[in-house]
Amino acid sequence: MTTFRIALIPGDGIGKEVVPPACEVLDAVGAANGFDFDYTEFDWSCERYAREGAMMPEDGIEQLRPHDGIFLGAVGYPGVPDHVSLWGLLIPIRRQFDQYVNLRPIRVFDGVDGPLRDAAGTDLVIVRENSEGEYSEIGGRMNVGTPYEMAVQESVFSRRGVTRIVDYALDLAETRGRQLTSATKSNGIVHTMPFWDSIVEERCAERPSVAWDSEHIDALAAKIVLDPRRYDVIVASNLFGDILSDLAAGVAGSIGMAPCGNINPEREYPSMFEPVHGSAPDIAGQGVANPLGAIWTAALMLDHLGHDEAAVQVVSAMEELLSSGGPRTADLGGTASTTEVTRALIDLL
Ligand code: NAD
Ligand code: IPM
Ligand code: MN
Repeated sequence: MTTFRIALIPGDGIGKEVVPPACEVLDAVGAANGFDFDYTEFDWSCERYAREGAMMPEDGIEQLRPHDGIFLGAVGYPGVPDHVSLWGLLIPIRRQFDQYVNLRPIRVFDGVDGPLRDAAGTDLVIVRENSEGEYSEIGGRMNVGTPYEMAVQESVFSRRGVTRIVDYALDLAETRGRQLTSATKSNGIVHTMPFWDSIVEERCAERPSVAWDSEHIDALAAKIVLDPRRYDVIVASNLFGDILSDLAAGVAGSIGMAPCGNINPEREYPSMFEPVHGSAPDIAGQGVANPLGAIWTAALMLDHLGHDEAAVQVVSAMEELLSSGGPRTADLGGTASTTEVTRALIDLL
């Protein structure tokens, strides 16, 4: 029997509430398919920061390295500034393990009353660049305490970085609807975005099997709301992809349902799986967080570990739960608890 070694970082807030359901689902589906999981839990979080002055130990990355996968709930909590908690844990893991693909599928499931009339059947994937772009450490504050105070933050777009994310998106599009949309803003961001566009154009020219177009991020945001079904694979820079993925998750009914994989496609390093949502301090501790984002994320991890049939079983159980009017949490208009939804889903597996 194959045993996968998984590092668990539940983190803060509802992160701690949605990771156990994901593990229960992984265990159930593993038992049915002849593999299992050996979890090592790490208490790296804002609580640890308050106690020890760091989100994770100095050798944290080394501790994670031997695992087959990393599963993270969410980090960030009032009391610790977000740039401190996120740059002390999440971003270093994404970067040091070169998880340059941030994969975010979005679907409008039957049985979910999203905010839109005509979104049924929406099935798209946002491929977000996850290692550079607008998330850079280059810059700083200047003239602090004077009327001339300012903050500068450089964006970094490298030929290698853009090429590899566009190629990944093209490969993915080949396996799906053969349609790629690039999110740009070359009318306003005059250095980086025209560079992004030129690489997109070069790479797409070599892949005539995929139809592609490029849309300005502002117009694209409106079109995803107005007609989400027209999209298949969307490739976007780090910040644009971040914003678009919450937008599209909202279109699909709740950001509590959206999954994410931070993937190192070359498998040189472990990949990390985490729901798109954050620690949701507004509902933490009440047992009402939607576990489906974390559960779908577990399916992405199964896929990555080579068990695509098990991943399909999990997503099919989600489809059945939602389309049959099964229990759901408040974000989807229901009254069920996190545990009730998890139980109902496992019964369907
Ligand atoms: P958030 O995703 O935590 O919450 C936004 C809204 O969505 C809230 O109203 C919340 O209640 C709701 N929501 C989110 N997940 C839900 C779920 N599973 N079920 C039901 N409702 C859900 O975003 P935020 O409020 O901007 O951020 C809160 C904290 O989380 C911040 O510290 C932020 O930096 C952090 N954050 C962390 C991650 C991560 O670790 N990957 C991701 C995003 C935000
Ligand atoms: C996400 C989050 C993070 C990001 C934050 C918390 C740094 O919003 O995973 O989408 O912007 O990448
Ligand atoms: Mn985000």
